[in-house]
Order: sequence, then structure tokens, then C-alpha cells
Amino acid sequence: MKITNLLTNHIDRPLGFGFEKARFSWEVEEAAGTKAASVRVQVSLSPSDEAPVYDSGEITCELLDSSGWALPLDLKPRTRYYWRVYVKDELDGEAFSDWTWFETPKATGEAWQGSWITSPFGRDCRPVFTRRFECAEEVKAARLYLIGLGVYEAYLNGEKLGSEVLSPGFHAYDSYLMYQTLEFKPQKGANVLEIWLGEGWYMGHYGLKPRAPKYGDQYALLAEAHLCYETGKEEVFGTDEDWLVSKSPISFDSIYDGETWDATLLPGDPLPAVKTDAPKAPLDARVNLPIERHESFTPSLTRHPQVLDMGQNFAGWCEFDCDAPKGTVIRLLYGEYMRDGDIYRENLRTAKQEFGYVSDGVPRRVRPHFTYYGFRYVKVEGWPGALEPGRFEGRAIYSSLKRTGEITTGHEQLNRLYLNTLWSLKSNFLDVPTDCPQRDERMGWTGDIQIFADTASYHMDTAAFLDKFMRDLRCEQLRLDGSVPCVVPMCRYELNGVAAWGDAACVIPWQLYLHTADRDMLARQLPAMCDWVDWIFRQTEGFQPPYLWAHSAQLGDWLALDGDSVYGGTDRTFVATAYFYYSTLLTAKAAGVLGQEDVRQKYQGLADSIKSAFQNEYFTPSGRIAIRTQTACVMSLYLDLCPSGAVESTADLLEQLLRENGCALSTGFVGTPWLLPALCDHRRESLAYDLLLRQDFPSWMYELNNGATTIWERWNSIEPDGSMNKDGMNSFNHYAYGSVAGWMYRYAVGLSPIEEAPGFRKVRFAPKPDRRIGSVNAVFDSPCGKYRVQWQFKGDQWRCTLTIPFGCLADATLPDGETRSLRAGTHEFLCSIGKRHFSLDSALDALLSNPKTHEVISEYFPRALKGIPFQYEMHTMRQLVSSPFAEITREEIETLENALAQCEI
Ligand code: BGC
Repeated sequence: MKITNLLTNHIDRPLGFGFEKARFSWEVEEAAGTKAASVRVQVSLSPSDEAPVYDSGEITCELLDSSGWALPLDLKPRTRYYWRVYVKDELDGEAFSDWTWFETPKATGEAWQGSWITSPFGRDCRPVFTRRFECAEEVKAARLYLIGLGVYEAYLNGEKLGSEVLSPGFHAYDSYLMYQTLEFKPQKGANVLEIWLGEGWYMGHYGLKPRAPKYGDQYALLAEAHLCYETGKEEVFGTDEDWLVSKSPISFDSIYDGETWDATLLPGDPLPAVKTDAPKAPLDARVNLPIERHESFTPSLTRHPQVLDMGQNFAGWCEFDCDAPKGTVIRLLYGEYMRDGDIYRENLRTAKQEFGYVSDGVPRRVRPHFTYYGFRYVKVEGWPGALEPGRFEGRAIYSSLKRTGEITTGHEQLNRLYLNTLWSLKSNFLDVPTDCPQRDERMGWTGDIQIFADTASYHMDTAAFLDKFMRDLRCEQLRLDGSVPCVVPMCRYELNGVAAWGDAACVIPWQLYLHTADRDMLARQLPAMCDWVDWIFRQTEGFQPPYLWAHSAQLGDWLALDGDSVYGGTDRTFVATAYFYYSTLLTAKAAGVLGQEDVRQKYQGLADSIKSAFQNEYFTPSGRIAIRTQTACVMSLYLDLCPSGAVESTADLLEQLLRENGCALSTGFVGTPWLLPALCDHRRESLAYDLLLRQDFPSWMYELNNGATTIWERWNSIEPDGSMNKDGMNSFNHYAYGSVAGWMYRYAVGLSPIEEAPGFRKVRFAPKPDRRIGSVNAVFDSPCGKYRVQWQFKGDQWRCTLTIPFGCLADATLPDGETRSLRAGTHEFLCSIGKRHFSLDSALDALLSNPKTHEVISEYFPRALKGIPFQYEMHTMRQLVSSPFAEITREEIETLENALAQCEI
């Protein structure tokens, strides 16, 4: 037995995080038994049991909930606690884990030995704060508690402290300010601490309202250093007028526009720092995950002699080794696409996305400090001589979440699509879940993350990241009387109270609960859920018919291809009321989980009323849905909003609408995430795969065929005629439609969490395999351990292996309908799934995109490849051959039919 993945509050060795209480979790691997009989948790002040502060004794497992063990201990501030766990299984197998640790920050409300200081050079000059200090003896340990505003980097004796960038990150600065804890090791003798500051999100140009007041308008720093000597002596000093300030060579920084580093600028004579008032918002210990540098990319040169290609669209920056002569000005322009042989930057709107470097002749590694870019290509201007790609390195930057999911299939293009969804996550999880990383937004649009939260939580362990986002959301919600903004943190952009966006308040907590089983987190988030539903209810009060959310501005099925505006073609009241129902239902469920029965009843009653109002309004008495769009059908099916007699007819209509549209989707942000799930839930798996694998516009693969390495904002970001979408909102890195990867985990792989045993303690295993993707090989590292799924087709057989981790269970429904209840361990399945053959009733699109059937058509019905009048209105080959314009004889149709029947799907 091996115990791994020890986390405290979902984080590996959190340093200086502000937790209400510590909650431990771990995974058990390589055990002979299937579940724990008992566990024991030990906490100590050293990584041994020599300084114990807590011992749980053996706990029987019924007392443990699947999200781990809450430590019943009052924690001291500024203390590192070590802990380990012992597990015994039902066969008496046992193991101790290694020691891990977490460290507490300053006590809440603890006074700081130091004051806020600012720079005497004013706002236009970025400051470098320095403090020299002597250590008479060897230092055993040292900590720096600090926050720099707008954004900072700290150095000791010229070396950067820690691996984080863009500290203190981005949060609802109006409501609270997060300080960090850094570990450092001063040397015996002279030392110098330096803190570099830039404008960042706090002071700089950021957000949709360029002229709105910023969070703050002066650089500010608060720091407190604790030195603990080998002799046991302690020393503390903080920021005060003994700190000096000099001028930074970073002469410009902006989240959108980039950075300029003028190495020829001299720091000038330092001046003493100036004491300043504390910002209004209270200080809190950090709760955000660090933003760090991750993947590295070595670029290649494009055909353009100045443009480098990283081969991947991502968020981060490009570093380079420079030994250019003094005075050389090098300029990097970042963009996502190439167009007409040059870098394309129009979709950045007003964001400049540039980096400037003025060389002082000293060879060095150059990188930005206080900005980031969304890009694949970099145009380099001013480089002395020919560009040498080997001197450049792309670095991806994002919040350090642990990767949890990994899927490979037998379909290469699908594997790339999967990676594109992952890269859109990485590019947009930069402390705040943003819409895009490149243009002048990069904001926490609540709708986007609401849609993507489930997918994200399969790709990565989102618990700490989204919990912090929910904290920001709650802070802003409290300013809006229960409404929820469309952008969190709000940055003075007031748009709020919109369906599918505000519903982040309910959907994210519920998704987090399903994925983690963390009730403490759900309890923290329940007030946001209740307030949001109550707020919507107030909007509907007094209107007839009741419970329809009709009188607010809405974004509808954002960017759907039906309809004639960005709001799509689905009635906006329909979308809003369906979401009203969904959020109300989730709130009732959450209250139920937390044992708040009266609250549960209140929201369940409301959900029932909304549902019947919805059905009265949108379904005819005989059960026909009144809004005939793909998204309306999808929402009704997925949210279980159809009256009982209307489920089949709604699923039929969805299929009909897809076929009428040439077997293509037209759904937007709202309909797309549930489209393939709704089809699979209603026995239309093959059609779901048709849409997934469709090559032409509009489809996921169409993006890939146009070179996408991340998910686009719009289905038509590049129009079928090859032109760029001209509507000014055209990001190539938006994750909403990447929610298709959530479908891959839940349906292609087949693993879903269930409400009765969340956190993947028990799963529903119901894979929906399709021959066209050949095989699936997946690992999902759930909070309870690693699930593995492998399946493949061999002739008429489908073979599958499922591994359920220690302590977990699965209810399996196999593709042939057989059901089984399974325990931890490895299970093999075999089903006969006969091959399907093409016919005249196959979708034209499927026939034309399959190489074998394409060949058959080119041989027996070549006119269909050239295009027959009105062909675009036909959906099946039978319709086409029956067209008066087909000019095909009965015998030829028969030959074609026979030839198609030889081709397998
Ligand atoms: C953002 C979206 C967002 C939308 C809502 C856009 O500009 O990029 O992703 O959800 O606005 O209006």
C-alpha cells in the first residue's frame, strides 16, 4: 500500500494560506484491500513524531467523509505543521504516508510591524523598493509577509524570491487585499531585499471601462520580514522610511499593452520611501494558487523572416537571450494568427500586446515582469542581424492547478481537439478564470466559467482556484443586493443579473461539490446561491404569467449561429427561465446536502413552480415545444424540463433540426455544452459523434482544419470564405465551446460523479463508444484516487478495462445495456457491438466526410461531389438521389446503395 497526493484544503503544501480550518485529503494506491478499515492522522511541529501536537488515534472509516479529514485543532499563526496519515485496509494491509506540511499565515487582525509605504517619484515612474540588512549570525529560517500594489516581484541579493509571477494576483481588490508569505534565506553578513513594482490590474489600464477609476492610483508596499537565527534569536523588521526607493528600468507596464524595459535607464539616487495610508480594503492571507511559469516552447521561424511561431497558442510571454549593442531597441509584437504572410493583430482591438527592450549592452536573459500575452506568433523588430529562433523561448504562465484528467483516443484529430480545450483552460486560468488572454478584456466573465467549470474540473483540480473565484463573486454580489455581475472581479463594469452568467453563483458551487464532496466549501457558497435565486425571483414578482424571467436584459444563447444577432435565435425569456429553474434546483439540492431542510423545501417548491410555469408557456397542451431551436430542445431535455409526454417528441425535433441544418449545430454558449450530452441521453449517440467529427463549418473540427491550437470564441472566427470574422469580438482562445471535453470524460470515457457519493467516491460508468474514434485510453485522478479506462474495438467486439481506485465504487451501464455494481479494482468487459454500415439513409455530410464513402460516391455518383442544385437542403443520400436534379437512374441508385452497404462506420 502506498499513500499519495496528500493535500491540505486541496493544495499541496500551502504556504501562508488563510484557511478557516485545515482539511486533509490523500489517495491510497497499490493496496491489496478495496477500502480503508481505519485511518489515523498525526500532526507534528517537525517532520517526525518527536513534536506531536495532534493524534487522531484510529478512526473508523464511517466517520470520514470523502473530502477528507478536518483537523480539530486551533492553529497558531506563522507556524509550519507537518502531518501524515496511516491507513489500514479490510485485509489488514497498512501504510504510513510520508510527512507533508502546511504553514499558517499571520493571525487574522495581527498588527504589522511596518507601515504601508509609497514612492516619492510619483505614479509615472515604476519604483524599486530596497532594504539593506545585516545578519550577524547564520539564519535558520526567514519569512517575508508582503503585498505590493499594483503588482510585484521580490528579490534577495539579486535573486528572485519564489517562483510566482504577477503577485499578488487579481482579486476583488475593493473588498480585500491578499498578502503572500515568501520563504527566503538571507546570508550571514550584508543582504539586500528589493521589491519591484508595476501597475498590473490594480492601477493600470484594465477592464471594459478605460476611464473608470482604478482600484488605486499609487504604488504601495507593505512587508514584514521575520528572521530566525540558528541560535534561536529572532528579528523582525517591516516597511518604513528606512526603505529606499529608486527608479525602475521598467518604464512601462500594462496588462493589455505590454511592457518596456529600458536597461539604459539609470536608477538615479535613491530616496527614502514615504509612509502612506493603508488602502481601504482589509488585508487577508492569500487563498489563491500561485501563478507560475509552466511549459516552454522553442519557436521556429515562419516564412516571414521576423515572425516566430511557438506552434501553440497560449498565455504567457516570450523570453530571449540578448547581447545586442547598447542602445539597440528590440520590439516584440504578439498575435494569435498569421494572415497574408504576416502576424495578424486586429482581433486584439485596443490591446497593444507589445514588449520593448532597450539594450544597455550587457548580455542577459530578457523577459517581461508585469504583463502577459495571448499568442502563438511573435514578430521581432530591431533584432541585430538575422533572427535566431534558438535564442527565444515561449513560456506558458498560469495558475498552478494540478492536472487530473488525460484522454487519448484512436482518433488523432480528436486528440488535438482535446488538447485545444486543455490549452484554452491553461491560457485562461490566470488567477481569475478569464474569457480570453489576448484582447482588451481578459476578464472573469461569469458565464464562460459557469459553462466550462465541469470540464475544467476534469482537466485539473479546480477546487482552490474556483473557491477563490467564488469568494470574489460573493464580494461583488454583496455590492449588488444579490445580483451577480457578468464580470468578476467587476472592475467597475456594472453589467449584472444576466441568465447563464449570474448562474455561476449556483452552478460553480454545485459542480465543485460533485467533483470534490467538500461540504465546507458548499456551506461557504450556499449564501451566494440563495441570494442569486432570490434576486431573480424578485425580478419576476408582479408579472404575469408568474415565474417567467422576462423583464431583464439578457445575453441569450450568446454567439449562436441561429437568429440574427449575437444573442442567437432562442427566445431569451426561455433561456433565462430555464436557468432560473436550474439554479433554483441546485440551491435546493445544496441545502439538502447541508441538512437545511426548510431552505431545501423553499427552493424545491420554487423550482417546481418555475417548471410548471415554463411548461405552460413553452409546451403546447399536446406536448409540442413552442420554441423550435436546437438550444431550446437541448435545454428542455438536459434540464428535464419537458412534460413527461414531450420528451421523445423534443428529442425527435432536436434531431430533425440538426438534420435540417445539414447535420450541423447552430448552438451558442448556452446550448453547446449540453448538445452532445442531450443527444447521448436520448439514444442518439451516433448523431453526437457525427457532430463531434464533422469537418466542415460549423464544427469543432472546422477550427482544427483552420489551424486552431486552442478553442475559438466563435464557430465562425474564421469564416468559411477564409476571411476573419469582422465583428471585433474574435478571440482564438476562448474556452466555452471547449466544454465538449466534458462530454468526452462523461460519455466517451464514461465517468461521471454522482450526487449520492460525490467526489468520485462512487461513479456512474456509462461509456458511449463509437467505432470512428477506435479506442479510448484515459486516466482521471479524482479526489479519491485514479480511475483508468481503456476501451477499443476488435472486430465485432468492444473490450474495456476499468480500474476503480481504493475505497471507491461504480455503477456501470455497458453499451449493450447490461448493468453492474463494482468495487475497487480492475474490471474487464466485453460487449458485442455489430458494425454499422452506410446506406442511402446515411447523412450526406457523414458520407462525404468519410474517405471510403467519398470514394464510392466519386465512382458511382460523381455529380454529388460537384453539387446538385439545392443539395445543401438535402440531408440524406436518399433525399439527394430522389431529387429531380439528381439525374441518376434506378440501376445506378441500386449500385450506389450496394457499394455504400460495403462501407462500415
Ligand atoms: C466575452 C465573452 C462574454 C461576453 C458576454 C465577451 O466580450 O469575451 O466571453 O461572455 O462578452 O457579453
